[in-house]
Amino acid sequence: MIITCEKCRTKYRIADDLMGKPELKVRCHKCGHRFIVHRAAQAEDSFLLQDEVHPDYSRVIAVSNQKGGVAKSTTCLNLGAALAKMGKRVLLVDFDVQANLTILLGFRKAKSFYDVLTGGVKDIGGAVVKTKYANLSLLPSSSKMALLKKKYLSQHNFEYLLRDRLRTIQDSYDHVLIDTPPSIEFFTLNALVAANLVVIPSTCEYLSMHGVSQIHDIIGVLKKGINREVECKVLITMYDGKNTSEKVICDKLRQTYRDNLFRTMIEKDDKMQESHIVNAPISHYDAKSRAAIQYMQLAQEIAG
Ligand SMILES: Nc1ncnc2c1ncn2[C@@H]1O[C@H](COP(=O)(O)OP(=O)(O)OP(=O)(O)O)[C@@H](O)[C@H]1O
Ligand SMILES: [Mg+2]
Repeated sequence: MIITCEKCRTKYRIADDLMGKPELKVRCHKCGHRFIVHRAAQAEDSFLLQDEVHPDYSRVIAVSNQKGGVAKSTTCLNLGAALAKMGKRVLLVDFDVQANLTILLGFRKAKSFYDVLTGGVKDIGGAVVKTKYANLSLLPSSSKMALLKKKYLSQHNFEYLLRDRLRTIQDSYDHVLIDTPPSIEFFTLNALVAANLVVIPSTCEYLSMHGVSQIHDIIGVLKKGINREVECKVLITMYDGKNTSEKVICDKLRQTYRDNLFRTMIEKDDKMQESHIVNAPISHYDAKSRAAIQYMQLAQEIAG
C-alpha cells in the first residue's frame, strides 16, 4: 500500500503485513512528521517511491526485566549512545534507585525525577543534563528517588507520573530510553506505561528466560487496557556461543519469541567492563570492539 506524508507529501510504500491493525502510527523519514495511517487509505501506485516506512514504535523505549544483572543499564547506555552516534537526539532516563546509568555516565549528586515531583526544579526539562557525547542527554537518578515509591505508590494513577511529564519534552528527542530496576513496582510500572517499545534483555540462562516470560505476561495485561500501543522485543545479552547450555536456551528463546526477538545478539565482551571503568559508552571506548559493533547493529535495527 502507498501512503503520503500529511506534511511534506513524500510517498512511501508500506508493507501489507504491517497493516494488520485498523490503524498504524508512522513517522515520515524526510520531515519527521508523525501521523496515523488507516487501513482503508487509498492505494496509489503511480508515484515515485522514496523509501519504506517503519512503525513509530521506537520513540519511548523501556529497557526492562525483573531479573537482575541481565544488562539493562548497559543496554540503555550503549543503545542510547549508538543511536546518538547515528545522529538521533536521545534522552536517557535513569529510573532505578541504584543510579547505575547515572554513574556509568560519570554524574554524581545530580537532580532527578525526585526533584521534578517535589518542586526542586521547575519542570522535567530542568533536571535533564547534557552528557559530554553529542546528541545524548540524561535525566539522572539519585538515592532520594527511593522516597518516591513510599510517597506515591498508594496514590491514584501513580503509574502515569513519568508518561505525563515526558510528553511535555519528548518532541525534543527522537528516542527516549528508560532504565528500570530489577523488580516490577513503582518505577518499572511507570516506565512500561510511558513506553511504545519494551526491550527485554535476557541472558541465555534458565532463570533469565523465566524472567522474560513474566514481564511478557505483564506487558500482555497492559496492552489490554492501560497501554494498548506498547510492543515488546527480547534482546539476548552477554551471549557465550561456546557454552552448550547457552546455545540450547538461545534456541528456545528463538522458537518462543520468533519475530519478537531482535536479530542482533549482544555477546560477552571483556571490553564492556573496561568501558564501565572509564565511564564511557563502549562505542566511544572502543568502536571496533564486538560489543560496540553489535550495539550499533541493534540501533540500526530499531531506528531503521
Ligand atoms: N556484553 C557484555 N559483556 C560482558 N559483560 C557485560 C556485558 N553487558 C553487561 N555486562 C556486565 O554485566 C553486569 C551487569 O550489567 P548491568 O548492570 O547492565 O545489568 P542490569 O540488568 O542493569 O543489572 P540490575 O538488575 O542490577 O540493574 C555488569 O558488570 C556489566 O559490566
Ligand atoms: Mg541496572
